[in-house]
Amino acid sequence: MSETTEELSRRKILLTGATGGLGRALTGRLARGGAQLALTGRGDRALAALADEVGAEAIVGDLTDRAFIEQVAARLGERWGGAPDVLVNNAGAFELAPFVETEPDRFAGVLAVNLQAPFEMARTWLPDMLARGSGHIVNIGSVAGRRAFPGNAAYSASKYGLRGLHEVLVEELRGTGVRVTWIEPSAIDTPLWNRFDPDRRPDLPARSEMLDPEAVAEAVFFAIAQPQDVSIEEIVIRSNAVSGRR
Ligand SMILES: NC(=O)c1ccc[n+]([C@@H]2O[C@H](COP(=O)([O-])OP(=O)(O)OC[C@H]3O[C@@H](n4cnc5c(N)ncnc54)[C@H](OP(=O)(O)O)[C@@H]3O)[C@@H](O)[C@H]2O)c1
Repeated sequence: MSETTEELSRRKILLTGATGGLGRALTGRLARGGAQLALTGRGDRALAALADEVGAEAIVGDLTDRAFIEQVAARLGERWGGAPDVLVNNAGAFELAPFVETEPDRFAGVLAVNLQAPFEMARTWLPDMLARGSGHIVNIGSVAGRRAFPGNAAYSASKYGLRGLHEVLVEELRGTGVRVTWIEPSAIDTPLWNRFDPDRRPDLPARSEMLDPEAVAEAVFFAIAQPQDVSIEEIVIRSNAVSGRR
């Protein structure tokens, strides 16, 4: 993470879920691109170490707790004087269970991280972005927000919902100077899959068939690095090494 280019010219970027697999790749790519970063995650040691590596602000907490979202707003208000230039809603929770075995609390929990939290984050910063006439909200979606897979009741409901939210924002924000981008990857080789051991399950993609998180981070960087008058509304990314399972 040492060489630095300046494409992002010190743009202020708030990234959630920085300690996860895609979050780490995004942190590295955005830092190399010259961004100033504020990172969120739940694990304080992991987040502090990552933030130290790239000179970022670390804000530890759970995005399903509204008080934490208010705390993020207060910290960045102090540090940056208002909204970030770019918000990347990346934190996510995954669940794999047949519909009838999906516990209602778990269903609500997945929606809280993947749908309610991105809504609340965007809701926190949009008034400031609109007043400024600039800003960018990037939502990390999923192929499961466009295609149904068995066992994905909670996850798909959350990602289809997030795509709906994104599409409403595209319509509402056109012409305001505030941009929104939907990133839609197929399976990515990250710790999200660790609980499910995908290489031993024929119904799941093998790790070797999944996207590299660095490739997805590159697509996010591309969307963010566009000039202000260019809006990348959607990037759909699929693995080219896939047998069709996901
Ligand atoms: N991996 C895939 O196959 C895939 C495919 C398409 C899209 N995506 C999407 O990509 C994004 C990143 O996923 P990933 O693969 O990098 O997963 P990951 O490695 O499991 O990382 C998830 C991140 O989200 C954070 N997070 C989870 N629940 C949270 C909560 N309640 N409050 C705050 N942070 C929370 C985690 O923090 P902790 O470390 O503290 O748990 C972690 O930093 C997600 O939106 C996911 O849906 C993933």
